[in-house]
Amino acid sequence: MRHLISPEDLSFEELNTLLDLANDIAHDPKKYSNCCHGKKIATLFYEPSTRTRLSFEAAMLNMGGSVLGFSSADSSSASKGESVADTIRVVSCYADICAMRHPKEGAPYVASINSRIPVINAGDGGHNHPTQTLTDLLTIKSLHGSLENITIGCCGDLKFGRTVHSLIHAMVQFPNVKFVFIAPDELKIPTYLKEEVLDPHGIEYKEVKSLEDVMPELDVLYMTRVQKERFFNEEDYIRLKDSYILDTEKMKLAKEDMLVLHPLPRVNEISVEVDNDPRAAYFKQVQFGVYARMALIMTLLGVEKPE
Ligand code: NCD
Repeated sequence: MRHLISPEDLSFEELNTLLDLANDIAHDPKKYSNCCHGKKIATLFYEPSTRTRLSFEAAMLNMGGSVLGFSSADSSSASKGESVADTIRVVSCYADICAMRHPKEGAPYVASINSRIPVINAGDGGHNHPTQTLTDLLTIKSLHGSLENITIGCCGDLKFGRTVHSLIHAMVQFPNVKFVFIAPDELKIPTYLKEEVLDPHGIEYKEVKSLEDVMPELDVLYMTRVQKERFFNEEDYIRLKDSYILDTEKMKLAKEDMLVLHPLPRVNEISVEVDNDPRAAYFKQVQFGVYARMALIMTLLGVEKPE
């Protein structure tokens, strides 16, 4: 049985096959409208979510399957003290596959080793968010044309932002990818990612504080929200929350075809005036997220591609 807990759970070949499947779904979604008939996905969300939970549900419904689940820890037996291991043993009796979001790093992994159904990590604390990464890769591949030979700027909360962590894990596998990390000192990417992922793959990267200075170099700018819920004190959050605000002035410095991505929700880090710029891809990214999750559900359930 297959799970998706971290981006490494898919081989490079499997990742490319999955992106090809997602691309086929994007071009002909109707063909897939019944391929998961009779299958159920459980969405077990112990942390707030709009896109991730609803896109898993939309993905399964688009394929003729059904959905069940809970959207907060308060409305589940976690509030009575039930462990993740016990919850997944129970959910294994109700559903064919599940997506779990949890504030504790490693909780979806604990679920996977106690599960009889595939478990998808839909975000674990400040650690990983592999299905956002599938979404991001599909967006870049579809709109930029390739995942090779690109310079990606990641800006904002690179310490707690799990979407950036997973994106790094996946992107280092593609040839000639360079990273520019734009963050204040307090929110730099964790050392383990440099030592265990970037350096072993021989990836060129730099860490800077000024977004303006590096704008002209970027093919993709990946903006992120400062992760309020992971701060230990509010003063630090207030001091850092508006470190970067992308606006039309800064967009003037960028390449004509640079893509702006953001996993959303956005707070202040992208001014709404940028939404009208053709390079703003964050709402298109949401649509790609549904196709990526459809492809993932099919892959983990072993559903054949319909003719
Ligand atoms: C992200 C997350 O939950 O990590 N949101 C999402 O899933 N699209 C990013 C965020 O919350 O800032």
